[in-house]
Amino acid sequence: MLKDDILNELESNRNTPISGQMLADKYHVSRNAVWKAVKALEQEGYEIVSSSKKGYYIPDSCDIISEQGIRKDLSEKCKQMDVRTFSVIDSTNNEAKRIMATENCEAMLIVADRQDGGRGRLGRTFYSPENCGIYMTLIYRIKDGIQNPALITMAAAVAVVRAIESLTDLKLSLKWVNDVFYDGKKVAGILTEAMTNLETGRVENVAVGIGINVKQQDMPEELKDIAVSLNITDINRNRIIAEITNQLLKLYSSMNADDFMDEYISHSFVIGKKIQYEKNNQLLSAVVTGIEKDGSLMIRDEAGNTEALISGEIRVLGFS
Ligand code: BTN
Repeated sequence: MLKDDILNELESNRNTPISGQMLADKYHVSRNAVWKAVKALEQEGYEIVSSSKKGYYIPDSCDIISEQGIRKDLSEKCKQMDVRTFSVIDSTNNEAKRIMATENCEAMLIVADRQDGGRGRLGRTFYSPENCGIYMTLIYRIKDGIQNPALITMAAAVAVVRAIESLTDLKLSLKWVNDVFYDGKKVAGILTEAMTNLETGRVENVAVGIGINVKQQDMPEELKDIAVSLNITDINRNRIIAEITNQLLKLYSSMNADDFMDEYISHSFVIGKKIQYEKNNQLLSAVVTGIEKDGSLMIRDEAGNTEALISGEIRVLGFS
């Protein structure tokens, strides 16, 4: 479709005017057809600067999520990947599960500008308003499967940290297992849903859902104390999504804890902290003494007994 081709040209050359004649020649259409495609993109909300002398361009300030906008920054490893974008969807993880049930795919990225049924861990909802967040799910088939699914989520947390820290000056930290924090509050969460091969007991197909508060101006009252936005306004979300995807694929293609666990541990703010956790329906407290290479959380309880937590939810005392 001409409109998609024009969008691809404009996204690949942000801030650089391309003449209508050049586009018309390249796609063997009239200048009027190019103009109509540009108008149709504007109707969809794209900010397109046009001048009769220089041509058309999308300025950096435009932040509309699109396949073209994401794809231009994908690494070679990701280039073949199917990328599907939605202005609104129930949940990108739900879409991933629908796709996994009906299509045979090795890697696919699903992104939405808004979710009206965004899901968090433990049956919670995930606040997913339009124009300000990243809601993405990567479907991925792990070669030979993996025995310890916690590593998939921990690698995703490191991918988010790497992407944001490489594109901005922000410093992020991690709360075991998979919450990303900024300035003492949560900015991103990860929901990994997996399909296990019942014969081998290994997880083979995963849907890794990542939600990030990128530039929410105001959090709803009930989230104000616990969640915050990164307040990134000078980098568009397509760029961030592409970088996270590049990092995810890099880590998942070898799926080796040695590639990311030291980085995970160095970003963890729970080591040395007093935490509460649940065991046999009882709320217990302990101190975190470390994180093992397999991702388990080492704790020491009040009686001095040590234990390894392999999953679950912890509450860091003194934090929300
Ligand atoms: C959590 O913090 O509890 C996990 C939040 C995960 C949210 C993301 S947003 C994209 C994907 N789609 C969903 O419905 N959930 C995940």
